[in-house]
Amino acid sequence: MRIARAIRLLDRALAPARRAGRRVVFVPTMGALHEGHASLIRLARRRAGARGVVVVSVFVNAPQFNQRSDFTKYPRTLAADSVLCRRAGADLLFAPSATDMYPPSHSTWVSEEALSLPLCGARRPGHFRGVCTVVLKLFNLVRPTEAIFGLKDFQQAALLQRMTRDLNVPVRIVCAPVVREADGLAMSSRNRRLTPRGRRLAALLNGALAFARWRFLRGERRPSRLLADARRLLRVPGLRVEYLDLVRSSTLRPSPRATRGDTLALAAWVEGVRLIDNLRL
Ligand code: PAJ
Repeated sequence: MRIARAIRLLDRALAPARRAGRRVVFVPTMGALHEGHASLIRLARRRAGARGVVVVSVFVNAPQFNQRSDFTKYPRTLAADSVLCRRAGADLLFAPSATDMYPPSHSTWVSEEALSLPLCGARRPGHFRGVCTVVLKLFNLVRPTEAIFGLKDFQQAALLQRMTRDLNVPVRIVCAPVVREADGLAMSSRNRRLTPRGRRLAALLNGALAFARWRFLRGERRPSRLLADARRLLRVPGLRVEYLDLVRSSTLRPSPRATRGDTLALAAWVEGVRLIDNLRL
């Protein structure tokens, strides 16, 4: 596996594969990689085949953080990340610097204006503008045939799909399932900031969503009832729900009546750490 720490080195590393018309499968990340990311890289490896190229990017993208402290506290573990990438089957790790990605005169931004409004978009102003901008930049740099995104961030995956369609970006977006800890907690780079007690509280998130889904499977169709049931399980000291909604998966608008395929979406704070999770009915 090679590591390119600058845009010009990325071009050099990819030139032979591009000349040969090989498939390039891309996994964008912000590093602090865990088993959730590894599953995306392994999927990329399978989709690229032996002749294709798997590229992983690690870049902590400042514009998508709406709190400076969250950005500065974001774990940076490039040495361990490169080991995980190599083991999961990546060919190239692209880890550019902030000034390479955003020269001081950078002044162009990409905003999606429908799917980015509800849920996380309503609570994190500018977040998805930062995500769309960096992902489009990375697509233009890597020029992949396919890119893989995790459904852990299902709103992000939906709006990146929308962005590539709307802007005719020639990249196929592939979504991968959420990877969880044994107790159901969705794996996240932010989990490592939790104490053992916080870690136990965090497991309630998926428990509450699973309970609501169980109620749905038993016949409850009123969103207000499903959400109230889930909310009751989350009413514990040390856990604060930011939002809990049931939405149509294609529009992300509130679901008037729970239907198979809808998504339960949740954001909550534990020990100053913002955690998100979702579950499809
Ligand atoms: P990051 O949080 O590092 O996540 C990178 C990719 O890994 C995303 O597609 C995310 O959905 C996926 N992922 C994270 N945890 C996962 C889990 N437990 N199961 C499955 N997939 C998981 O998302 C970002 O970075 C950034 O916003 C980025 C797209 C790189 C733009 O900066």
